[in-house]
This record gives sequence, C-alpha cells and structure tokens, in this order.
Amino acid sequence: MKAKITLAKEFRIGDIDKRIYGSFIEHLGRAVYGGIYEPGHPTADENGLRQDVIELVKKLNVPVVRYPGGNFVSGYNWEDGVGPVESRPKRLDLAWGTTEPNTFGTNEFMQWCKKANAECMMAVNLGTRGPDEARNLVEYCNHKSGSYWSDLRRSHGVEEPHNIKLWCLGNEMDGGWQMGAKTAVEYGRTALEASKLMKWTSPGIETVLCGSSSRNMSTFGKWEAETLEIAYDSIDYVSLHQYYGNHDDDVMSFLARSLEVDDFIYSIICTCDYVKARKRSKKTINLSFDEWNVWYHSNNAPFEKWSMAPALLEDIYNFEDALLVGSLLITLLRHCDRVKIACLAQLVNVIAPIFTKTGGGVFEQTTYFPFMHLSNYGRGSALLPLVDCPKYDCKAFTDVPYIETIATYDEENEEMAIFCVNKSLDENVVLDVNLMDFDGYKPVEFISMDGYDKKDENTFDNIKVKPHGNPLPSIDGTKLEAELKPFSWNVIRLKKA
Ligand code: AHR
Repeated sequence: MKAKITLAKEFRIGDIDKRIYGSFIEHLGRAVYGGIYEPGHPTADENGLRQDVIELVKKLNVPVVRYPGGNFVSGYNWEDGVGPVESRPKRLDLAWGTTEPNTFGTNEFMQWCKKANAECMMAVNLGTRGPDEARNLVEYCNHKSGSYWSDLRRSHGVEEPHNIKLWCLGNEMDGGWQMGAKTAVEYGRTALEASKLMKWTSPGIETVLCGSSSRNMSTFGKWEAETLEIAYDSIDYVSLHQYYGNHDDDVMSFLARSLEVDDFIYSIICTCDYVKARKRSKKTINLSFDEWNVWYHSNNAPFEKWSMAPALLEDIYNFEDALLVGSLLITLLRHCDRVKIACLAQLVNVIAPIFTKTGGGVFEQTTYFPFMHLSNYGRGSALLPLVDCPKYDCKAFTDVPYIETIATYDEENEEMAIFCVNKSLDENVVLDVNLMDFDGYKPVEFISMDGYDKKDENTFDNIKVKPHGNPLPSIDGTKLEAELKPFSWNVIRLKKA
C-alpha cells in the first residue's frame, strides 16, 4: 500500500518537554529490591545499586523517574526510609500485600537518580497521611539547613538539599483500592492544602493533581472538573493513568488503542480549559500522563502473601506490545503542547522495559527499543505530519490509519526524525515523504524492527526482537521514499547536509 506524509517547519505542535520520556519506580515486587537495588549483586556498587541496570536506564535516556508509588505511596511513612538502615522498621504494605523492609528510601533513590542521570518526580502520601507529612518531606528534601527536617537530612549524611522540583499530590485517590481513597471534594481540599504548604516550604516546585485512576472510572471527567475547581490555583499539572491489554487476542483492535489515548488526552485538555474558563484564569494547567503502558500478561500470578519483593506484575512483552508502546508514545508527542510529563510505568521488572534476574543478568524487553529511539532522537519540537494513508476498521474502532507517525525537529542541531508504525500485518507501505521546507536534509539512518511474529519475546539468553539498520531511503530534493515492512517499527533520521 502507499502512504503520503507532508512535513514542514510550520507544522510545529510545540516544544517537546523532555519529561515526556519519564518512567516510574515503585516499591512494588522486584522494582527496587532485586531491580535497581541489590547489595551483593556482582554489578552492585558500594551503595548496592546495580550497574547493569543503570547502564540500560542510561541508554533509555530517561530524564525523570516517579517514585515511590503508585498505590504503595498511599500507605508510606517516608520517615521509615531515612536514617540508619538498621533502625528502619519493616512494615506491611497493604497496597500489594507484601512486607516492605525500608532498606531503600528517599536518599538511596536520590543517589540512584544521580547515577542514572534522571530527576526525581516525588509522590507524597495523601491517603493515610496528609499536608503536614507532605510539607515535612519537602523540607527534608529541599531546605538547605537550619530547620528540624533539613538538619535531620544533614545528620543522615546528606549535606546538600536534593532540590526536587516535581511533586505528585498522592496517587489515584478516586480508586476504592487506594489506601485512604477520597471523594473529589475531600481530595480537592487535601491536595490544595498540601500543594500550598509544599510550595510555601519550597517555592518554585511544581505539583501534580491526581486525575481519575483511568478513563474507565465511572466518575471520569467529573472528578477532574471537581478537583480542579478546588485546587486550580495551586497546582500545575493534572495526571492521567491508563494501561492496555490485548485480552481478546485481537491485534488490530489492540494497536488501534492509540486513538482512544488521543481522545482521552483531548478530554482532559478540554476539562482543564473548562475550569480555566469558569475561573477566568490566565493560568493553563498542563497534563502529566504519569502511568501508561501495556499491562495484562502477568495478571493474577500467584505469590506468597507478606513476602518481601516477590515477583509481581512481571509482564514479559512481545513484539505487538512494542508496536503499541511506539504508537502510544507517538500519540503523546502529538499532544506535546499540553502533555509535558509522561511516565512509562514502570522501569524495571514491574511491567517494565528492563528485566532482571535477582542475583543474575538483565535484558531489554521488546518495548525497550521504541522507547529508546524516541527518547534519544525525538527531541526538540514535534511536527504534525499531514498523513494520507489507507485505514482499517476493527472491533473497537473505525477508520484507523494503518500508519501511526510523528516527526521531530531539533533546530539547534539541524536534525529531524520520522517515527512510524506500519500496523498492517501483511502489507509493505511505500512511504512518500514531502519534506517541504526541509531543503538540504538528507537521511543519515533508517532503523526498523520488523519480520517478527507478533508474539515473539526476548529472554535473558536471546534478544530476538531488536532493531536493525537498513539501506538509507532514497531522496530527490525534498521527496523522500522509504519502504516500511509489514507490521514494523521505523525510525528515519535526517540531518542537514
Ligand atoms: O503501576 C502499577 C499500579 O498501577 C500503580 O501502583 C497504581 O498507581 C496503578 O493502579
């Protein structure tokens, strides 16, 4: 089949906030213990941080990592995780039915962030706790010295403040499964007061209000409108969470989910702007899509209740999952004028692109690669291509374009990249690109992932699904032609000659 895309510098959607390539580490399963932290592991440094994992995180180029939860944070006493390790209490984690040893906490995570070249997006507990503990944590992390909590940090051997800029006001507070779940009014008030106190403690920080736990919640939309109505003036972002699964083994519907994400984002933008209009405010609230991924392979895996760091939510991803992850990231970029932060949930072991064996090796899951390509090459601003391509109908959607695409333009380095998923199971796409005013730009690399069965997976011994290079696409002036293999992920990089 044939597809045409047209690109011009004027088709700019917005600057890409690098935090759109964020991720997430929760005290859940083996994300922390046996994931990023494993004293005694052959690659662990003097602080117990696994260097083999850090190397893969660095290649992903993740600029921000949300921590410590997730559902976990809604029962977390952050004070349990600081100070001498031998006096830290073991606690029951009611979110996941496990025991939390607290041998890893705030300062250890900040150490890890430094090594992984990432900033921390810290979540506070607004479930079982409230504004007071939240502002104490901000003081502990961000105040230089001369106050109780900042001096406590210094007494813990951390002289300089962490200066954490980005803070989540709880997690999924509308969900019945959440410790301390709240009504919209209860949460709106709590979030407003917490955000206010946190910002008074550390001016310049940004806060994220919890949106609905997912688009499927019965209160979706109403929750955002009501909580924003209350907390609008103090907060900066509203969160979105959503996970996807191919439960019916219907791959064409599965890959069409990006259309739903498009709608989801658009509804939240409208809701934010509705409240803005009602308030006659000049402030715009942006979006933090701080949990998104494929999650369904590991549902209902048995584990021993109250054990420490059991294997939980350990999805092993296949090739079709990688194509959806690529499509979803492209969709996020299409909204980069409003989606400023997004976190692939999660980063290591727990529904993650990086998978470890406790005491053993590590490997890149299939989903690792599209994320790595976008995070490394999708910088600068995003351009909305004009797309003319065949469409398909499936059970869940009609008129789904066979190709999912976005272009990014890094003006400073005179580089651009075109990212493209061909969703057709059996047809090549001859892609005709009209580069309009990108005169003098020439392809320098054409990477793809193709030729796999949709259920192919990677393992410790065999990274079967991985990217490979291709001959460069042909170019004649500003007309580029590339062939996209059936069911493939593609990256075409160009540079001004
Ligand atoms: O990422 C796994 C869980 O999914 C998180 O703890 C929670 O916020 C969401 O429901």
